[in-house]
Amino acid sequence: MSSIAFIGGGNMASCIIGGMITNGFSPDQILVGTPSAGTRQKLESTYGVTTFADNHAAAASADLVVLAVKPQMMHAVVADLAPALGHRPIVISVAAGVPVAALSNWLAEGMSIVRAMPNTPSMLESGATGLFTNQTLSDANQQLVNSIFQAVGYTCWVDDEALIDAVIAVSGSGPAYFYLVMEIMQKIGEELGLPSKTAQELCQQTALGAARMATETGIPPCQLRAQVTSPGGTTHAAISCFQEQGLEAIFRQAMNSAVGRAQEMSKDYSS
Ligand SMILES: NC(=O)c1ccc[n+]([C@@H]2O[C@H](COP(=O)([O-])OP(=O)(O)OC[C@H]3O[C@@H](n4cnc5c(N)ncnc54)[C@H](OP(=O)(O)O)[C@@H]3O)[C@@H](O)[C@H]2O)c1
Repeated sequence: MSSIAFIGGGNMASCIIGGMITNGFSPDQILVGTPSAGTRQKLESTYGVTTFADNHAAAASADLVVLAVKPQMMHAVVADLAPALGHRPIVISVAAGVPVAALSNWLAEGMSIVRAMPNTPSMLESGATGLFTNQTLSDANQQLVNSIFQAVGYTCWVDDEALIDAVIAVSGSGPAYFYLVMEIMQKIGEELGLPSKTAQELCQQTALGAARMATETGIPPCQLRAQVTSPGGTTHAAISCFQEQGLEAIFRQAMNSAVGRAQEMSKDYSS
């Protein structure tokens, strides 16, 4: 049974640990290094995992080490941890914006490093995680890494680290795009006279229903849209307006801005 150490026991670590346990990992194989006594106690009582104030003790014999601290803390935490990783576990970082080259510089040479980009719906096991590794992992190790993130949702591997920035623009930041659309639709529903709660519930259920139609029927979104857009009908009137006003160009600009920011962050967090 592989042992997995988390360094940092905050929101992302807890949601991955929760998903792992729900999906058949044993609490006995999960170790967490995190400084606050309160965080340790919560993780122990909620999940039955073993926790340590000392990161070295957590990682010392782990097969896999998941770095789940804030990006700005990563350099200090990894530099301190490196001497405890002489047994060369696979190192996974979930930090946004910390490139593999930086992690590689801070660790011993030649270590297998995986960069994972999960998103917040992981909390409901409905996340989406993009994964990149700097070395070819054995099938068993690739499957182990996959199973950790599959425990909180969908996973995909990219073969070029630059594509992690595209993952950030699509699924990392993506939930917020949908929230913004829901916010706008609710507001306009209210302006059109619906009670606030009704507008909110209609928007939520519509988003859920559309997401389920797209994921569960396997029909591409463009076809689902065509199916509900009768010529001369109400949906046609609304969609034509979105297209005439340049919605696609707005999205392209917005998502390219997200990529640009991810590239800047990679530079900021590399030193
Ligand atoms: N939240 C998300 O949706 C999300 C999505 C994608 C990626 N991420 C990435 O996940 C990482 C963690 O984010 P988060 O939202 O989980 O942050 P968080 O809730 O603030 O958790 C960070 C944890 O780091 C711990 N920590 C601080 N100093 C430490 C040290 N020296 N050694 C070990 N642990 C230390 C803190 O522990 P104590 O509680 O014990 O003080 C805290 O629990 C970030 O790099 C972020 O970019 C997060």
